[in-house]
Amino acid sequence: MPDKFITLTPELYDYVVEHGARQDDVLRRLAAETEELGDIAIMQIAPEQGAFMTLLVRAMGARRALELGTFTGYSAICIARALGDGGTLVTCDISGEWTEIARRYFDEAGVGGGIDLRLGPALETLRDLPDDEPFDFAFIDADKKEYPDYYEECLRLLRPGGVMMLDNVLRGGQVLEAHDDDPRTVATREVNDRAIADDRVDVAMLGVADGITLALKR
Ligand code: DHB
Ligand code: MG
Repeated sequence: MPDKFITLTPELYDYVVEHGARQDDVLRRLAAETEELGDIAIMQIAPEQGAFMTLLVRAMGARRALELGTFTGYSAICIARALGDGGTLVTCDISGEWTEIARRYFDEAGVGGGIDLRLGPALETLRDLPDDEPFDFAFIDADKKEYPDYYEECLRLLRPGGVMMLDNVLRGGQVLEAHDDDPRTVATREVNDRAIADDRVDVAMLGVADGITLALKR
């Protein structure tokens, strides 16, 4: 089989971002402020990923969404905008410092009213959420060691037909490095192996950004 992928050069990647994501002033300023935090800014989602999330969530007609790992709020804004007026995004993070930035930009983006920000470990927040208020969409992007548990909890909380998106499923290629026994890499391999074999979901892994998996609850 011929290679069905291309390796992006930085120039080609810029082309993708320029033609694949309409970042408005709020998202641009948020990205710039996040850059000032230093190396940690790598945790922010890629612009073309954000555009994809907005489009997907809007196409689904989603009203209730869940996010694990708010960071400084870029992905939350991309989700919340797609939910529209009256929609709800529950987003959680352990950092008061990062989410203080997020809160400011939620208000600037005009989505603050629809975002329920919970400070604390994502698993605790998830386990407190009831089964009888299901979610249409869930974005998993918090502590990589907990991905298998996040996956199970999100599957419980999604409606049938609901979709979860997992970020960083390739971990910069580390999933293939057999000697890498970092618990975050081990957990990522575990959730990847589980999802593809799981007949409770339809699954699609995409080589976008650091790898994203979509899993639709049957
Ligand atoms: C890291 C976490 C992320 O969610 C991400 O998208 C990139 C990097 C990290 O912990 O290094
Ligand atoms: Mg991520």
